[in-house]
Amino acid sequence: MKCRVCDSNPSAFMSFGRMPVANGFLEREKFGSEYFYELKPVFCENCGTFQIEDHPSPDMMFHSDYAFFSRTSEHMRQHFKSYADWVCDKYLGAGDEFVVEIGSNDGILLENFASRGIRHLGCEPSSNVAAVARNQGVDSVVDFFSSALAGRLVSEYQHASAILAANVICHIPDIHDIAVGVDLLLKPDGVFIFEEPYLGSMIEKTSYDQIYDEHVYIFSAISVASIFEQHGFELVELLPQETHGGSMRYVLARVGMRPVHQSVFDILQHERNSGLHLPGTYDAFRSQCEKSKSVLNSRLGDLQAEGRRVVGYGATSKSTTILNYCDIGPDLIEAIVDTTPIKQGKFSPGMHIPIEPPSFFSDNYPDVAVLFAWNHREEIMKKESRFSNTGGSWITHLDFDK
Ligand code: SAH
Ligand code: TYD
Ligand code: ZN
Repeated sequence: MKCRVCDSNPSAFMSFGRMPVANGFLEREKFGSEYFYELKPVFCENCGTFQIEDHPSPDMMFHSDYAFFSRTSEHMRQHFKSYADWVCDKYLGAGDEFVVEIGSNDGILLENFASRGIRHLGCEPSSNVAAVARNQGVDSVVDFFSSALAGRLVSEYQHASAILAANVICHIPDIHDIAVGVDLLLKPDGVFIFEEPYLGSMIEKTSYDQIYDEHVYIFSAISVASIFEQHGFELVELLPQETHGGSMRYVLARVGMRPVHQSVFDILQHERNSGLHLPGTYDAFRSQCEKSKSVLNSRLGDLQAEGRRVVGYGATSKSTTILNYCDIGPDLIEAIVDTTPIKQGKFSPGMHIPIEPPSFFSDNYPDVAVLFAWNHREEIMKKESRFSNTGGSWITHLDFDK
C-alpha cells in the first residue's frame, strides 16, 4: 500500500490476522454472513504515521444501528463537560461564535455548548446516535464530514470559530479531504481541536487493542504535524489526556495566526526521544503483543483447567481485536457483560461470545473478570467493589510483563 498521508511506502511489521467489524455485535442468524478483513498495521517512516492497511468501508461501520453511545460512561460525560469549558475559556470569544463538531455521536460534547446558548452543529453519520443528540437539544446533520459537506455548511450556516472532534479523526481514511474541509469551514483565526487515542500511550502500555477497523490511524504529534502542515496549519497546543487509555488533544491553527505553546516543542521532542519515529519501535511493539497474547492464553487455559468461571467486562470495540487475535471464544470466556442495550442478547464479532446485561455479572459473580473496558477502570472498580471484596479477581491483556 501507499501511505495515505505522504504517498511513500510504509513498512508492515505484524498482522493481527482475520478480523470482523469491531463494533459489529451480531445475532446468531448472521454468523454465516459475517464480514472479515486482515488487520495489519503499518508504519510510515517518511511522515511518522501509524495506520492500518485495510479496513471495511465506512458505511459498514457507521450506520443507523451503530453500537457505540458516548453517554454510557459517566466519567466521559464529565470529561466532555470540561473539554467544552476549556474550549470556551481558551479558544472562543464572546461574539457570535459558531462551533462545529465532527463525529458528535449522542451529543455528549455539544450539549455543553447548547446549554450555554452557543450556536453549534454536529456532523454525525450514524442516525441512531444522532437522534439521541437531537433529543438533547443538539443540532445535528446526519452525514459524514468531508470537504463537500464543509462547502455546503459554509453556504448554509457561516464560517466556524472552532471545529471540534474526539475519537473520530483517526476513523477517517481520507485525512487530506478532512483537512481541506476544515480549511474551507474555519474562520481565518479559527481553531481545529481534536483528541484521539495516542500512539505514545499505546506503545508504552502495549494496548494493541486500540488497533481495530475504526482506528485507521493512531496519531502522534509528529504525524498530525506532518499531515496538517501540507494544508497550511500548525500545532499550537498539545494536551495529553487520560481518556481511552491515553489520548492526546491537538490544537491546530493556520500558520502564524496563534502563538505556539511550549507543550508543542516539548511533546515533539519527547516523541523523538522515545523513538516514536523509528521503525525499530514497532518491531519491539510486535514482540510485546506476542508476549501479551501468550500470557493471556495461558492464564485463560489454566483457569479453564481449574474449572473457574470467567466473564468479560465491557463489550468494547477494542475487545474484538484481543479476542480474535488471541483466538478466545465462549469455551474460555462464557459471556461479556455490557450496559449498552443494543449489544445485549447479541454475540461478540468473530468469536461469538454472548453479550449479557450487567445483572448477569452481579446476580452470580464469576471467579475472574476480564476487564475489556480497562480505560474505565476507576469508574468500574468503584461500581464493582463488592465483586473485588468478595474474592473476585480482575485480569487484562495489559498486565503481562510483571
Ligand atoms: N465523539 C464521540 C464519538 C466517538 S465514536 C466520543 O468521543 O465519544 C466516532 C463517531 O464518529 C461515531 O458516532 C461515528 O458515526 C462518527 N463518524 C465516523 N466517521 C465520520 C465522519 N467522516 N464524519 C463525522 N463523523 C463520523
Ligand atoms: P469504550 O471503552 O468507551 O469503547 P470502545 O468501544 O471504543 O473500545 O467502551 C466502553 C464499553 O464498556 C461500552 O460498551 C459500555 C461498557 N461499559 C460497561 O458495560 N460498564 C461500565 O461501567 C462502563 C464504564 C462501560
Ligand atoms: Zn507517510
